[in-house]
Amino acid sequence: MTTSTALVTGAARGIGLATTRLLLERGWRVAMVDRDEEALTEAAAPLDGARAIIADIADPDAAARMVAETVEAFGRLDAVVNNAGVADFGPVEETDFARWRAVMATNLDGTFLVSQAATPALKATRGCLVNIASISGLRASTLRIAYGTSKAAVIQLTKQQAAELGEYGIRANCVCPGPVRTKLAMAVHTQEIVDAYHDAIPLNRYGSEDEIARVIAFLCSPEASYVTGQVIAADGGFEATGVGLPALRT
Ligand SMILES: NC(=O)c1ccc[n+]([C@@H]2O[C@H](COP(=O)([O-])OP(=O)(O)OC[C@H]3O[C@@H](n4cnc5c(N)ncnc54)[C@H](O)[C@@H]3O)[C@@H](O)[C@H]2O)c1
Repeated sequence: MTTSTALVTGAARGIGLATTRLLLERGWRVAMVDRDEEALTEAAAPLDGARAIIADIADPDAAARMVAETVEAFGRLDAVVNNAGVADFGPVEETDFARWRAVMATNLDGTFLVSQAATPALKATRGCLVNIASISGLRASTLRIAYGTSKAAVIQLTKQQAAELGEYGIRANCVCPGPVRTKLAMAVHTQEIVDAYHDAIPLNRYGSEDEIARVIAFLCSPEASYVTGQVIAADGGFEATGVGLPALRT
């Protein structure tokens, strides 16, 4: 039996690390990509079947190297989880071009570059792409001019990939997480934002890294063999609701 191999970006911590652990538990091998060398080395050390690849996904020269290293180490590539992302919340007028570009470079350019570099290897296995966007890409909000726009673009990028790569048997899907208490989120979520999320989310809580990882693993698995071009929010019901929920709670 062949052993499936995934490449997970942003795998040193948070949702990417939880996804790595879950896929390993389910018998996959995982190439863990991250630009944080110290965190990645520490995270990968105890994991059997994982290989750490230190790379910045925003670097156009790095994508081909990370795919080549994965195929060299494991012989194949069945799934790419484009999870690495950065958040920078700020008002329109304070989001200068450098801040805008930094968000786009990782969230959008990196997702495009890694997917493109992986396409030949995914054609060979009729593999899949899972791109991680956000509820901020589904609904506009304040302070997210760069982050929200980058994530909306990732949603469209996914649909473009599904449309074009379907004929090679490659599936492309997108997961939009709601709030999860990772380093990324807690750096930009004030107590006020935390309280507002609780009010706005029907399940009335943050999600966990594992709850997002399970949706990602489903989309990577043969269980999702006829699912492509889809956007799945794992968000406690956030996207389904409108305004005024706290006052209307029973
Ligand atoms: N946590 C949330 O509330 C939340 C909500 C919606 C969407 N997301 C998305 O989920 C994904 C994972 O976020 P997380 O919360 O686990 O964040 P995190 O900050 O805990 O982990 C992100 C990882 O990506 C790595 N990374 C960032 N930029 C990189 C680059 N250019 N090259 C290589 N590695 C890079 C970081 O070093 C880090 O290890 C992101 O795309 C994020 O936008 C998170």
